[in-house]
Amino acid sequence: MEKVIKVGLLGLGTVGKGVYRILTGNAENICRKVGARLEIARILVRSLDKDRGLEIDPAVLTTDYRDVIDDPEIEIVVEVMGGLHPALDYARQTLKKGKSLVTANKDLIAQHGRELFEAAAAGAADLLFEGSVGGGIPIVRPLKHCLAANRIIKIMGIINGTTNYILSKMTAEGAGFAEALAEAQARGYAEADPGADIEGLDAARKLAILASIAFNSRVSLDDVYVEGISRITARDIAYAGELNYVIKLLGIAKENENGIEARVHPTMIPREHPLAAVNGVFNAVYVQGDAVGNTMFYGRGAGEMPTGSAVAADVMEAARNRLHRVAGINGCTCFEQKPVLPVGHTQSKYYLRMAVADRPGVLASIAYAFGDKEVSLASVIQKHTDGRRAEIVLVTHRVSEQNLRDALTIVEKLSAVDEVCAVIRVEDEDVREVG
Ligand code: NAP
Ligand code: HSE
Repeated sequence: MEKVIKVGLLGLGTVGKGVYRILTGNAENICRKVGARLEIARILVRSLDKDRGLEIDPAVLTTDYRDVIDDPEIEIVVEVMGGLHPALDYARQTLKKGKSLVTANKDLIAQHGRELFEAAAAGAADLLFEGSVGGGIPIVRPLKHCLAANRIIKIMGIINGTTNYILSKMTAEGAGFAEALAEAQARGYAEADPGADIEGLDAARKLAILASIAFNSRVSLDDVYVEGISRITARDIAYAGELNYVIKLLGIAKENENGIEARVHPTMIPREHPLAAVNGVFNAVYVQGDAVGNTMFYGRGAGEMPTGSAVAADVMEAARNRLHRVAGINGCTCFEQKPVLPVGHTQSKYYLRMAVADRPGVLASIAYAFGDKEVSLASVIQKHTDGRRAEIVLVTHRVSEQNLRDALTIVEKLSAVDEVCAVIRVEDEDVREVG
């Protein structure tokens, strides 16, 4: 007799609908791959009356989460509701009952990953979350499995589609930030309240998850240094182009002998870097391993079917594991406790744009302030002048962030300096390896 594994969904919105369409539309194929038929037995929603554009037995829908979590026949619960509450409580209850949990919820994993992994281990259940980073792009499983034999040196990811769409439009068309954001909203890419995307928080959650896996040590959201893109101007995009760079919002995680660096901020990368060619709402994660070298995972970072693809594959894995009674093999890989470095302890090259007085000795006074704090300048270019005021663009060598900040505190007080208009980190150390 054909084995059936019952699945419950918590949520039937964008991602939930994708999961439903894939698990029902590809049911035969999935059944043969898993060795059991996956049956979506119950689905939790807020509204029973909403037209969801799906052919679905109304009896499957419920507004009582206990119909999903407490049903003894449901072995796998898929949390695609979003947010922390009540999703966290439902996740805890699911794992406590020894059911496997599949989620696309980056907030849950980035903020409560340790606790949920412990609960999964206690219940010998799976906790799978491929859809939480990079939508349809396989990245969690490749890091945990395919690249497991490597020491990961660095991860650099474009892991937010909204901001990548905005920066791509500013780069391609010279558009201003507000105009590009308005178009992202009109096209339905950016949320009505795009704060978490624009200010880098969405990317920070995803980076915390990737860094934890890559360096086998828990990195939580609070550990990630975050800067968004709202201060990026068309002028800086144009100057970046002149310097042969492109500006991207990157999530960067590295490890050195002192600890882990985890930061999200606008970054200038060389035009030749593979990440520079990732445009629009696409995402990509560039991973450097000591054995494999450079790899890049690219695709759609959000959306019903791409994210549904990742979540449905996790459901299949959880089902296979339950079938073969090996649930729990996907446990927590954070077996070390490494410090996460404060951003002041990180190093980078920096692009700086300043409005200054155009008179003799100004550049010398600025150069002196930087030199005094051991910030070495690689180039200084005067861009515009009306005879009285000028705009200068400086690029530093690789320096400590704390030294740069100390130098800027002095520079900002110089009478000849009107304003430090932009400070953008530059990452070009591995471009030679790319060619
Ligand atoms: P969504 O479209 O807002 O759907 C949420 C679903 O959960 C809806 O069906 C809603 O019911 C239900 N729901 C929410 N709160 C509920 C509650 N308290 N009780 C009962 N049902 C509740 O969200 P989504 O875009 O699919 O995102 C789901 C998760 O996937 C989030 O964690 C998100 O970060 C993650 N994710 C999303 C994407 C994407 O492209 N959207 C990509 C990657 C990861 P009703 O339909 O009745 O309102
Ligand atoms: N809001 C996210 C983005 C998609 O713009 O990439 C969901 O993770």
